[in-house]
Amino acid sequence: MPPKKVLVTGGCGFIPSNFIRHLLQHTPYEVVSLDALTYAGNLENLRDVMGHERLRFIEGDIRDHDTVRDIVADVDVVVNAAAESHVEKSIQEGASQFVKTNVEGTQILLDAMREAPLDRFILISSSEVYGTAEAAPMDEEHPLNPRSPYAATKLGADRLAYSYFVTYDLPIVIVRPFNNYGPFQHPEKALPRFIIQALNDEPLTIHGDGHASRDWLFVEDDAEAIEAVITTPADAVAGEVVNVATGIDISVSQIADYVLDALDKPRSLKVHVEERPGQVDRHIGSTGKAERLLGWRARTSFEQGLEKTIAWYVNNRAWWEAILQTRAGVYSS
Ligand SMILES: NC(=O)c1ccc[n+]([C@@H]2O[C@H](COP(=O)([O-])OP(=O)(O)OC[C@H]3O[C@@H](n4cnc5c(N)ncnc54)[C@H](O)[C@@H]3O)[C@@H](O)[C@H]2O)c1
Repeated sequence: MPPKKVLVTGGCGFIPSNFIRHLLQHTPYEVVSLDALTYAGNLENLRDVMGHERLRFIEGDIRDHDTVRDIVADVDVVVNAAAESHVEKSIQEGASQFVKTNVEGTQILLDAMREAPLDRFILISSSEVYGTAEAAPMDEEHPLNPRSPYAATKLGADRLAYSYFVTYDLPIVIVRPFNNYGPFQHPEKALPRFIIQALNDEPLTIHGDGHASRDWLFVEDDAEAIEAVITTPADAVAGEVVNVATGIDISVSQIADYVLDALDKPRSLKVHVEERPGQVDRHIGSTGKAERLLGWRARTSFEQGLEKTIAWYVNNRAWWEAILQTRAGVYSS
């Protein structure tokens, strides 16, 4: 049998570019990447593998029916990771683009799957669909109370995908990763922003008192989890929702301290600004279902992941300086 062909949408974004690199290094799969190259999509994120014989890059929108239909008909697996992904942007600029890409884009991909059957459709949902923790750890049965327009559109896609499993009996799996961090993450997101601000001796701006906590997942661990969803037999995972988490939460204020300490910068660089509307107080994910169904568990401790991440931002200054120069999509807080 020829190796599987996997479509990864949003391939020039943070998680998807790390996932593509992981697939090329650790599997025999052929990979197709479809990306609209929004402000968050960066060809530099795939520069080192762009010439790889098993990677094909297509610039295009997941809402383009014809393009999507043609590509889906030619692959075995779809990993839909393309999204408008920045919570704060959804609050400041409104939900329109988030609904279009996150919900409508998912619907168009799902409909293409109805026409051309796939081995697997993996929707990269988000822990944000839960809202703030009502119980700890948050398992897959936790109530769904999204607190930002971004989170609500992710939930729309998440439940739409589930409905296609129920209605059309399609092999769809919904993955809910918690807060990823690692190389190639856009400077608009908290951890890279803290690292960059610390490197530049600028204040690290923290919403509210910084007690809000997240379950921080190293992106390479997330890539291993998504790969496990592809290799696990369909009857074990179809229609399932699976958290991808570490089971440990760390507050945003502590994260800033870790970064400052690691870079030998004074903690006085931490500055508190107004609390963000729609803030999620606490995220801590359960790990049991991923272990049971996929045999997956995060392997990287936060200390190890942070060290690798900081080293990457120190060594790749040109990558983030180019993004900061355009200021596109970068928020000051
Ligand atoms: N980063 C996290 O911590 C996290 C946590 C949980 C879930 N997620 C989800 O994982 C996925 C990837 O997140 P990320 O942080 O890597 O995002 P990102 O913003 O870094 O990348 C998103 C990519 O999607 C592309 N894209 C946007 N709209 C598109 C469209 N209409 N058609 C085709 N491509 C389009 C962008 O150009 C970009 O390359 C998203 O679905 C996000 O909701 C992220």
